[in-house]
Amino acid sequence: MKLHMNLGEHSYDIILERGCLAKLNEYADLSHKAMIISDDNVPQKYIDTIAAQCREHVVHIVTHGEQAKSMASFQEICADLLEHQFSRKDLIIAVGGGVVGDLAGFAAASYMRGIGFIQVPTTTLSQIDSSIGGKVAINFNGVKNVIGAFYQPTLVLADPETLNTLTTRHYINGLVEALKAGLIYDKTLLELFETGDIENHIDEIIAKALMVKKAVVEQDEKEQGLRKILNFGHTIGHAIEADNHLHDLYHGECVALGMPYFIGDTLLKERTRSICQKLGLPMKVETNHKAWIDLMKNDKKADHDTIDTVWVNEAGLAEIKQMSLKEIAALLEASK
Ligand SMILES: NC(=O)c1ccc[n+]([C@@H]2O[C@H](COP(=O)([O-])OP(=O)(O)OC[C@H]3O[C@@H](n4cnc5c(N)ncnc54)[C@H](O)[C@@H]3O)[C@@H](O)[C@H]2O)c1
Ligand SMILES: [Zn+2]
Repeated sequence: MKLHMNLGEHSYDIILERGCLAKLNEYADLSHKAMIISDDNVPQKYIDTIAAQCREHVVHIVTHGEQAKSMASFQEICADLLEHQFSRKDLIIAVGGGVVGDLAGFAAASYMRGIGFIQVPTTTLSQIDSSIGGKVAINFNGVKNVIGAFYQPTLVLADPETLNTLTTRHYINGLVEALKAGLIYDKTLLELFETGDIENHIDEIIAKALMVKKAVVEQDEKEQGLRKILNFGHTIGHAIEADNHLHDLYHGECVALGMPYFIGDTLLKERTRSICQKLGLPMKVETNHKAWIDLMKNDKKADHDTIDTVWVNEAGLAEIKQMSLKEIAALLEASK
């Protein structure tokens, strides 16, 4: 399947197809120098498949995990690009999950004020969500994604075959972003989670989730309004994630824990919880409301003492509501 992201001069294609990893050169001009950025947990065979199609390439590997989205990794990439004399005509290819995509994308956005950037997402989370939409960032001083840019890739190449080597926990983790997409925009996607066998329907789930993200980002590339609905579950999810020294939960798992707080309809809340249970997601976390509220103050989405929260009261329909931190604190207490 080929989707076209319509963003004027920032438009690009998204290829979602089994086996497409070996066909990158059919979709992209690989005649310039390419830096393949990946991490040390991504199977080497994917990097080799991409490298074999490039005329000239350099491979840059970071240590896996969220800590790779750091200023230090960013500097090392820039040093490597300079050392290998990369010019504005050359490109960066991110092969891996959201960590690699966010880091490599930020380097691509910054180096020489922007060089070519291709996303080859290899996790469910990155195929469903992070590789499209153009948000790229690193973490700084303990604040997630605080230094970043809107920088659209020139191509996204998602091969669902690569998901076969993912751990079950990472596989499920990424599906939460699809569940979110269903809740905020596409009730048929939500129903698919309820009725279908997940693994047999994975291509359809990714495709439907991509279509939601495409539709939303096309209407509001820079998050002035509508795009905020993609943050559903993330207000509390990000706080849980930042408070992670206590548990060590993944991004999607934190979002799954954060979503029910903002579902107004009791039945829909129950349906969502049942899906999370079916997926084997963590259903409970040690609550630390005061710390979460403090962390929300640091979140980029907080404007002084208020936050634009996203509510879903009917399947497939999201609403943005401005809430004070005090109101959110009360909501947390009430859901104890
Ligand atoms: N830019 C955005 O719009 C956006 C959206 C959502 C999340 N994110 C970011 O994405 C990040 C999380 O991404 P993630 O969940 O993909 O995690 P990740 O990038 O850390 O990948 C998870 C793990 O799987 C390994 N891996 C990757 N592909 C593999 C494969 N095919 N087989 C085996 N192992 C593989 C990685 O090496 C890593 O150890 C977070 O930093 C989050 O902030 C960004
Ligand atoms: Zn997310």
